Order: sequence, then C-alpha cells, then structure tokens
Amino acid sequence: MSALPMVVPEPGLPTKVTIYEVGPRDGLQNEKTSVPTPVKAEFVQRLLQAGLPIVEATSFVHPKWVPQLADAAELMTGLTADLGDRARELPVLVPNERGLDRAVELGMRHVAVFASATETFAEKNLNRTLESQFEMFAPTVARAVAQGMDVRGYVSMCFGDPWEGAVPVDQVVAVGKRLLDLGVGQLSLGDTIGVATAGHVRALVQAFVAAGVPTDRLALHFHDTYGQALTNVHAGLQEGVTTYDASAGGLGGCPYAKSATGNLATEDLVWFLTGLGIEHGVDLAAVVGTSTWMAGQLGRPSPSAVVRALGSAG
Ligand code: HMG
Ligand code: MG
Repeated sequence: MSALPMVVPEPGLPTKVTIYEVGPRDGLQNEKTSVPTPVKAEFVQRLLQAGLPIVEATSFVHPKWVPQLADAAELMTGLTADLGDRARELPVLVPNERGLDRAVELGMRHVAVFASATETFAEKNLNRTLESQFEMFAPTVARAVAQGMDVRGYVSMCFGDPWEGAVPVDQVVAVGKRLLDLGVGQLSLGDTIGVATAGHVRALVQAFVAAGVPTDRLALHFHDTYGQALTNVHAGLQEGVTTYDASAGGLGGCPYAKSATGNLATEDLVWFLTGLGIEHGVDLAAVVGTSTWMAGQLGRPSPSAVVRALGSAG
C-alpha cells in the first residue's frame, strides 16, 4: 500500500493550511505518569524536524493543577540550549500573570491563554467564574501584547459541556469576542469533549464571521471522542478556516474534563489534507515515526488510524 493517498483536490477549499501541533502540551498534560523531561524535549524536536510549523511545547500553569507539566521551565531551558531562538518561538500556555512571568523569564515570545465558554468548566479548569476568568486574562494579555508577544486565546467547551450539555453558539461568540477585545491575535475554538458535528462547526464559524471576526483569526481544535474530528475539519475548510490544531499520535485530553479523549491525530489530518492536495509542509512518515517512538515511551499503541496503518519502527 502507498504511504500517501492519491491527490484529488476538491474545488472551493483553501489551498494551504497551518497545522498547529499541540501534542507535547495537550497530549502530555493528560498522561497518568509524567513523561521524563528529555523525552519531552526529543518529542518537540522530532515534531519540528518533521516540518510542523508550530509546536506548542508546555504550560506554565500551577504545577499542582497539572503535575505532568511541572517541568515546564526545565524543558524550555533545555530546548533553548539545543535550539536557541527557535525554542523561544514555541508557544506555551499561561493562564495568568504568574504564568506569564515564568514564560517571560525564559524569553518566550508566544503565549496562549485559555478561556471557558461555560460556567462549570471555568470553575473546574481555572477556579474562576465565567466572568472572573476575564479579570485574570485582561492584565495577562495586556502585558504580553505590550511586550510585543503574540497571544493566542483558546475557548473550551465550544460545542458542548459534560456538565451543562448544549452550549449556545451566541455564548461562545461572546466569550471569543471578549478575548479578541483584550488583544488576543488568534482564537482557537475547542471541542474539548469531541461532541461537535459538521453542521454545528459551520454554524459556529458563520456566527463568528457574522459578528465581524474573519476566518483568518480563527483556528479549530477538535478532539476525536466520537470519530468526528476529520469531518469537522472538512466543515471548517468549507467555511474557509485555515488553522487546525492536532496532536501527534492522537495523544491528549484535558485533566479537568474526564470525557475529553484524544485530540485529532496529526497523522490523520496530514493524510486527509494530502489527499485533498492542500499544502501543509509536514512529512507524514516522520510524524508517524515520532508517534510510534512516543507510543513505545508511553507503553501503549497510538489511537491514530494512520499511525496504526503506517507505523513500524520508531
Ligand atoms: P488558583 O488556585 O485559583 O490560583 O488557580 P491563585 O491565583 O489563587 O494562586 C494560588 C497560588 O498558586 C499562588 O501561590 C500563586 O502564586 C500560585 P501562593 O501565593 O499561594 O504561594 N500560582 C502559580 N504558580 C505557578 N504557575 C502559575 C500560577 N498561578 C498561580 N501559573 C490557576 C488558578 C489558573 C493557576 C489554576 O486553575 C490552573 O493552573 N489551571 C490550569 C488548568 C489546566 O492547565 N488545564 C488544562 C489546559 S486547558 C485545555 O486543555 C483545553 C484546550 O486544550 C482547548 C480545548 O480542548 O478545549 C486548551
Ligand atoms: Mg484540547
């Protein structure tokens, strides 16, 4: 079997897409045991070598909340020693000013804050109310922007919430717009528990556009709980969105949303985009090799269909 699909473009879709790799952060934050720092560093470097243009490396969150990423400073210091300025370009999550201080100390230039579209998840993930999360983000984003940093804003639970059920589209747009008003450059709309379906994706993107937010300010972040992630990417492409988050090998979840399973696998996304003739710049065999190696480190096979189909030696 060929290691790449036959290329048959579909008219009307974007010709180029940016894959925003979140495996080292969204993937490893959810592992039961902490992955050794040198393994994380090798993971990040292998993903960069595979051509992934953006690799979100870690989180400067409270180490008691996410012990799996408590080595964030050590990881970034090691990566900076190996990669120099390239390491400082890797985005990291910062929930608050304390997180920003820690990132700034290491010279990081790209940070991401993460908001909730729902009251319950704001409390569970951030220990804040839906309203008071913005009091935490406002000074964080303002200071980062004032220092010339690039700030991404995640919105979680955009398509459904395990405690509250359906999440109204208008509520998601309101949270996203408030982040943009604070100075966030790009919004990543998260289907944290993987319940989105294609029509819902199109409706949410259309609602943002109707509210004056162009698709080039949007990214889509799918988890594959119900096997809908690629269908949802297709829906996003039909609406003109050109940035998609993905996690090598389909690692991932959220420690504060038990029903969140793995992210859309980078390999599955690369296979899909390649078949459509959409430019992405990623070497599929190299990512599969990286995920196969990481599966060996974690002691279990990757859930990605493409890794299972193509993977052999790491
Ligand atoms: P809190 O307990 O309310 O914090 O947690 P606080 O502001 O009250 O501070 C308490 C103490 O923590 C203070 O220390 C702070 O200095 C310290 P003390 O003065 O008592 O000695 N502290 C920190 N230390 C290190 N780094 C920090 C930090 N902040 C405070 N950054 C907080 C609030 C936001 C910190 C906490 O709730 C937290 O860390 N949450 C992170 C949860 C998380 O990382 N979740 C996963 C990422 S989100 C996700 O996965 C979804 C996404 O993938 C998209 C999708 O799928 O939807 C992005
Ligand atoms: Mg996520």
